[in-house]
Amino acid sequence: MSDLLQGLPMPDFSVADPSSRDGIVLQGVTKSFQGRKILDNFDFTIERGETVVIIGRSGEGKSVMLKHIVRLLNPEAGNVWIDGEDITHMNTKRLFEVRKRFGMLFQGAALFDSMTICENVGLGLKEHSGLSAEEIRIRACECLAQVGLDKVEDKLPSQLSGGMKKRAGLARAIAMRPDYILYDEPTTGLDPITSDAINDLILQLQAELNVTSIVVTHDMASAFKIADRMAMLSGGRIIYAGSVDHVKKTGHPVVRQFIEGSAQGPLSVF
Ligand SMILES: Nc1ncnc2c1ncn2[C@@H]1O[C@H](COP(=O)(O)OP(=O)(O)OP(=O)(O)O)[C@@H](O)[C@H]1O
Ligand SMILES: [Mg+2]
Repeated sequence: MSDLLQGLPMPDFSVADPSSRDGIVLQGVTKSFQGRKILDNFDFTIERGETVVIIGRSGEGKSVMLKHIVRLLNPEAGNVWIDGEDITHMNTKRLFEVRKRFGMLFQGAALFDSMTICENVGLGLKEHSGLSAEEIRIRACECLAQVGLDKVEDKLPSQLSGGMKKRAGLARAIAMRPDYILYDEPTTGLDPITSDAINDLILQLQAELNVTSIVVTHDMASAFKIADRMAMLSGGRIIYAGSVDHVKKTGHPVVRQFIEGSAQGPLSVF
């Protein structure tokens, strides 16, 4: 455990039988890069239908954690369970089936530069849905409209602003009507009004489609608006999780410093 957390209570998120429960369970997940442990015996559970916001400092492993949920990264130890199925040792064919249930908004949108926005949004549908080209175009335009984009379907990503690209990435994430959506900094770089429209969309997807969302964000206004639960990643583990009300009132010094964005406190500035 890092010095920072000495003497602070460490919550226990291990679960007894992940194979018998719904939702996403990460258990004992450990991952290192260049000898540095990024995730260190990481335990956490995301319940079906909830929106969990993950906070934590840059470089703590939030994106790495999200990538483990869809096995874009393999853990060196531990397991990831999706609705009772261990994806860690799953064959590729089954893994692709499981991944179809996920929408993912990557940090930086990750659109294909040579494809139009419509082609980008419709990519998963083209490969997996069996819909005709015309039907895919209609669905893509509907998803673009849901994120407030109009008449951009024939443009290339390079013709869009950063915020528009982010929204197009979100349209692609929802196009397959997923059960789970992973959002990696969905509002970073967007103006406050567009950010709030994205927040509303996340809430709407949860209310209307019972989508389970995991949102990584540094945007506290957004986190407080959308989260059923917030969790803070530090030192390779979740050091704190609780409702928005709990987070706002917590006396945990590390969480307090982070949510207040203060240079004073246990977290060093550099
Ligand atoms: N594929 C990779 N190869 C080597 N190192 C990696 C790889 N992916 C992530 N890392 C390292 O793991 C650490 C955690 O990265 P990650 O991208 O998860 O941070 P983060 O919490 O998402 O930060 P930010 O808030 O800046 O996005 C960083 O030190 C990063 O350099
Ligand atoms: Mg990241």
